[in-house]
Amino acid sequence: MRHITSITDLSIAEIDELILTANDIIAHPDKYRELCRHKKLATLFYEPSTRTRLSFEAAMYELGGQVLGFSEAASSSAAKGESVADTIRTVCCYADIIAMRHPKEGAPTVAALHATVPVINAGDGGHNHPTQTLTDLLTIQAEKGRLDHMTVGLCGDLKFGRTVHSLITAMCRYPGVQFVLISPEELKVPSYVKIPLKSGNVPYTQTTDLASVMPELDVLYMTRVQRERFFNEDDYVRLKDSYILTPEKLESARPDLIILHPLPRVNEIAVAIDEDPRAKYFKQALYGKFVRMALILKLLEVHA
Ligand code: CP
Repeated sequence: MRHITSITDLSIAEIDELILTANDIIAHPDKYRELCRHKKLATLFYEPSTRTRLSFEAAMYELGGQVLGFSEAASSSAAKGESVADTIRTVCCYADIIAMRHPKEGAPTVAALHATVPVINAGDGGHNHPTQTLTDLLTIQAEKGRLDHMTVGLCGDLKFGRTVHSLITAMCRYPGVQFVLISPEELKVPSYVKIPLKSGNVPYTQTTDLASVMPELDVLYMTRVQRERFFNEDDYVRLKDSYILTPEKLESARPDLIILHPLPRVNEIAVAIDEDPRAKYFKQALYGKFVRMALILKLLEVHA
């Protein structure tokens, strides 16, 4: 039995295999329609979500399986003080696989310790979001044709941005990838996320200025400044609009740039950008369903 609490729980070979399966699902959906018949996915979301929860649920339905769960802690017995460990022991009686989002870093790891079915981290606080990274990798592979030899710009809240942490951790394992980390001083990437960059001699630069690095980028990964991670509202208000991507700011970008965003977006990408062919963030949300289908099949050891 496998759990996915971090993107490093998957080897590069396994990620490549998931991308291949996701592409096969896109090309031949009928092959996959009944593979999870009589299997149940539990989605335990202690924190709000649109894409992750609904794409997991759509993924299971498209595999012929069923879904149960909760979309907020308040509607579960967590509101009465139940521990994650006890909730997981209980849900394992009802479901074959669990996707869990929690505001506390490490909660899915605790869940995995007490689970008798596979647990997938669907985002834990400001820490990790491995299935968003699988989504991002499938999108980059599909839209750029490769995952190696490229310059990836990550912009916004790089401190609390769990999608950024997982994406750096994954992409630094591909040859020829370099990173441009664009953030306000207060929202720089934490030191622990940079450990694999340093140990692997992966090139990276840090800057506060998006405009000056725009022409270098193959991928621009925008992120939201997350109000829910701030202890102080004044700090959030001061930093929230640090970067707003507009058509004018894209004038110096490469014609083959791709613009990604894990979403939800607040102000950081002007709606006018949505019509630009380089904007891939809604396509990215669609890819998330296919790669989660591939992951569910892998963890349940179901083969087409
Ligand atoms: N990308 C992402 O995690 O979106 P949701 O919060 O809507 O799930």
